[in-house]
Amino acid sequence: MADVSKPTAEMTREERIAAAKARAEAKRAQAAGQIEEKTTEEVSTEEAAERFRKQKELHKTRQSRKEREAALLQRAVGVGPRAGVEKLPQAAPAKAEPLPINRREFLTYAWGGAMALTLLQGGVATLWFAYPRFKAGEFGGVFTLTSVPPVGEKPTENLKGKFWWSNTPDGVAALYKVCTHLGCLYEWKDQTHRFECPCHGSKFRQDGRNIQGPATRDLDQFVVTVEDQSGNVLDQTTEEHRYVLVQDGAVYKVDTGKKILGRPSDPNLRVEA
Ligand code: FES
Repeated sequence: MADVSKPTAEMTREERIAAAKARAEAKRAQAAGQIEEKTTEEVSTEEAAERFRKQKELHKTRQSRKEREAALLQRAVGVGPRAGVEKLPQAAPAKAEPLPINRREFLTYAWGGAMALTLLQGGVATLWFAYPRFKAGEFGGVFTLTSVPPVGEKPTENLKGKFWWSNTPDGVAALYKVCTHLGCLYEWKDQTHRFECPCHGSKFRQDGRNIQGPATRDLDQFVVTVEDQSGNVLDQTTEEHRYVLVQDGAVYKVDTGKKILGRPSDPNLRVEA
């Protein structure tokens, strides 16, 4: 096949024209190809620039999102500034002043205070129990008497003090009104001149000695103290000394808070019913 791009001497005029057109076409095609290659390079450069720009924006977006998340976290835990709230100037931290006493001294004082309080409570409790809880003139307290019934006569009944004030040849005594059998209130009988219990029939002499059962011991007594007008103690009843002698002008104090238990019944005094 003949190369039409180069004219030869044998070519006709038409063939030369066609060859010229072919060469021109080839040049245009070549020029178009260069342009196209150039455009492709430019397009590649622009695409790379575009990708770089997009990556940069994406990086900025991620960076700002992280900053927002950090700000939200600080706000949630209360360490970060709130949006729209002006941060006030922080006051300078107060300078800690030294305590007037150290920890060891404080503990020593606290321990001493606790001990003192405990001792104080114990003292108050002791005084509370030692202080007389019954007033004078009420059962459990002291009754002051200035008279005594005649010897051998009917005993005087003291209702508030719950005792019989009995004067016998041995002396005077305050006999507790409760029977020593099962606790009934015995009575004085003028007919028999003795105490008799209505519950089970126990009987006692004027001085409180048991003479008939079922009680098995004498009547209980309260402590009697004899004082003169100046308050000097002249006599007092005890376990062994159960009757005090009557003295002129004396004051008799019966302490219903102090009881002397009756002795076991004397078989020699017992009488048959
Ligand atoms: S209570 Fe007095 S005799 Fe029984």
